[in-house]
Amino acid sequence: MTSAFNAHSLQNCTVVVTGATGGIGLAIVAAAISDGAFVIACGRNKEKLEALSTKFEGDIHPLCYDVTDEAAIKNAFQCVQRGASANQWPALYGLVNAAGAMTESKLAMTSTKMLQQQMMINFYSPYYHTQIASRLMSRYKAGSIVNIVSQVSEQGCSGMSAYSASKAALTGATKSLAKELATTGIRVNAVAPGFIDTPLTAHYDESAKQSVYERTVLRRGGTTKEVANAVLYLLSPRASYTTGHVLPVDGQFCP
Ligand SMILES: NC(=O)c1ccc[n+]([C@@H]2O[C@H](COP(=O)([O-])OP(=O)(O)OC[C@H]3O[C@@H](n4cnc5c(N)ncnc54)[C@H](OP(=O)(O)O)[C@@H]3O)[C@@H](O)[C@H]2O)c1
Repeated sequence: MTSAFNAHSLQNCTVVVTGATGGIGLAIVAAAISDGAFVIACGRNKEKLEALSTKFEGDIHPLCYDVTDEAAIKNAFQCVQRGASANQWPALYGLVNAAGAMTESKLAMTSTKMLQQQMMINFYSPYYHTQIASRLMSRYKAGSIVNIVSQVSEQGCSGMSAYSASKAALTGATKSLAKELATTGIRVNAVAPGFIDTPLTAHYDESAKQSVYERTVLRRGGTTKEVANAVLYLLSPRASYTTGHVLPVDGQFCP
């Protein structure tokens, strides 16, 4: 099967974005659409997804499901494929695994359930999405997958061992799958943000934020747009010779 993907932009590409209703996910949706993509926006909140559909009418198709539900993930990609076969949107080219959750808990207080939840949302879910997406992408011998990991997993952070372990697992999978999927024309990369002001970090008060900024060479937090710019680069064919890499977007954070 041949594809009509563009060599320089996301024009004529469908991109699936999980966590599309979140701070970073929303910025990625906007960036991908401005580069010409049609976006399948995945979230679990109907109202937020409806607002997104209204904002980007014509360039987006919302899918409401829990990203930790394996059966729902399969249904989601069946819908992506049905839409492409019916020429409702272009063939699948990109996947951005942006859905995630962060549990902060000291070792002594971390339960098995907490560990499992962190692994489920931050590792198993992107892994399953990648497994199914790559089957569709391999038909066209082209595709790009970007996982949102974290500088916390690169550097470590007290009280975040479960979160950082789940993101480190995804980093490991990113590097291995880049090697495994290369022959099918699929690139796999990751972006590792530092501190970004979003609902995920809304519990940080001003002094906690200042403490992070003081340990950041650029002396500030990052914006969702800065993360989206990095994702867009890796996602698009502009990064056609880049796979298996983790790009930090962290203002050079020194824990
Ligand atoms: N913000 C940071 O400083 C930072 C730093 C490093 C890495 N990251 C990573 O960046 C990614 C995006 O985070 P963010 O900062 O944009 O956080 P956010 O605003 O809280 O967004 C998280 C997104 O994930 C979705 N989500 C969570 N659990 C889900 C589930 N079970 N099913 C479906 N959707 C689910 C949320 O949906 P709802 O809208 O329904 O809650 C939301 O859309 C995450 O992977 C996070 O770990 C963030």
